[in-house]
Amino acid sequence: STMPTGFPENFLWGGATAANQYEGAWQADGKGISTAEVVMKAEKRTEMNLGNITLADIEVAIADATDENYPKRRGVDFYHRFEEDLALMHELGIKAFRLSLAWTRIFPNGDETTPNEAGLAFYDKVFDKMAEYGIEPVVTLSHYESPIHLTVTRNGWLDRATIADFNRFTETVFKRYKGKVTYWLTFNEINTGTFGFHETGVVDAGLPFDEQLQLRYQALHHQFVASAIATKQLHEIDPDAQIGSMLARMQTYAATPNPADVQAAQLADELNLFFTDVQVRGEYPEYMNRYFATHGIKIDMAAEDEAILLANPVDFLSFSYYMTTVTSATDGEAETLGNMATGGRNPYLAASDWGWQIDPVGLRITLNELWDRYRVPLFIVENGLGAVDEIAADGQIHDQYRIDYLRQHIEQMREAIIDGVDLMGYTMWGIIDLVSFSTSEMSKRYGVVYVDQDDAGNGTLNRQKKDSFAWYQHVIATNGTAL
Ligand code: BG6
Repeated sequence: STMPTGFPENFLWGGATAANQYEGAWQADGKGISTAEVVMKAEKRTEMNLGNITLADIEVAIADATDENYPKRRGVDFYHRFEEDLALMHELGIKAFRLSLAWTRIFPNGDETTPNEAGLAFYDKVFDKMAEYGIEPVVTLSHYESPIHLTVTRNGWLDRATIADFNRFTETVFKRYKGKVTYWLTFNEINTGTFGFHETGVVDAGLPFDEQLQLRYQALHHQFVASAIATKQLHEIDPDAQIGSMLARMQTYAATPNPADVQAAQLADELNLFFTDVQVRGEYPEYMNRYFATHGIKIDMAAEDEAILLANPVDFLSFSYYMTTVTSATDGEAETLGNMATGGRNPYLAASDWGWQIDPVGLRITLNELWDRYRVPLFIVENGLGAVDEIAADGQIHDQYRIDYLRQHIEQMREAIIDGVDLMGYTMWGIIDLVSFSTSEMSKRYGVVYVDQDDAGNGTLNRQKKDSFAWYQHVIATNGTAL
């Protein structure tokens, strides 16, 4: 076969969002409360609030009916503005829109046996409008949220019973949206999700680190099984549909050519790739046995689990890409990498205002390595620049820094495609400004469309195109040839 010269004709250019950061309307039409809606906004810009939360905090949050301290409750009101937002996306020319379903709209407590029709109907309206515009939905089943009821009653995903509840939800939506949705993702950033509260709903604040790891890897095991069962369900219900895993890929580089650093970086990479090793290859890799032994972790598996994982690998691998890190053997990072803490600073790279190291070439390296390792189609479902945008004197938002960031990453995607990587698409993160995951700030913006709302929730919620809108529109119209 011949060398590709650029983006394939059917490349899925698009944008991405998540229900809990975008929809708002947290109590509309029977919706239940989710984990994301009880985590308070971060105190400081630099401090991420990934949910170091206690049951007492959760009680306080549930009793508080306001959204003052919980910005994810308000999002940017996609729930009531989806027609306007989808019209903007249509004008932009995107081929694919990644969004997630709020489990709590459809099963408010998570453990009901029949779904909430109003929740299902909302997503029908969204998918029908997208079909009119010819925009493919890419739907995440679990993006950093789960029903708070499951946390309060059974510590969320730590309890095996959550598998059956989740798979009742997945079966319901696969049947309901058959023919409307072709691309599904199971757990958003399953690796990052494992180490925070939002996605697993596991409360473990205050426990010693190794005990937290025990709970987190056990909850993860349940998610692996649920993901494999969902894959099986989808293939039976809709043979034309495809399902992918979703990893926060964190390529790491050795701090020096010292073999000890290179080995530490290899281990750090393995601890990141472990998640896709299970979901793409269908089995736990050997290197985790040693890691589990070191930390005293024992995974409780049911007799059928290994067979379920092996029989139901995902169809494609999707991932987010924001940064790379540096690992050295001497600073102990290899030991703490299971944590949210990422590695050291790279003197060759600039960083965003939030300290995220910007590395376009790292995206090409990442794509080539993932393709070499797995040989399944890849899909970049998040990438973008969180920045403070100002409205200039002329009333416009001149976000040249975002254009530069996106251009540099898209250039490297193109290089990887020419290298031979099978890349399905690119949905940039936060296409329309939304609430930040890690800090719940509104002022950390990613979109090509500005939303008039501040960190305190004041503003008209009006939408306004930034300079990056016209730029991205042209990139899509030329299928990535005009950058
Ligand atoms: C990813 C998440 O980690 O990064 C998104 O999947 C998140 O939910 C995005 O919004 C950007 O992170 P943040 O914290 O800047 O919103």
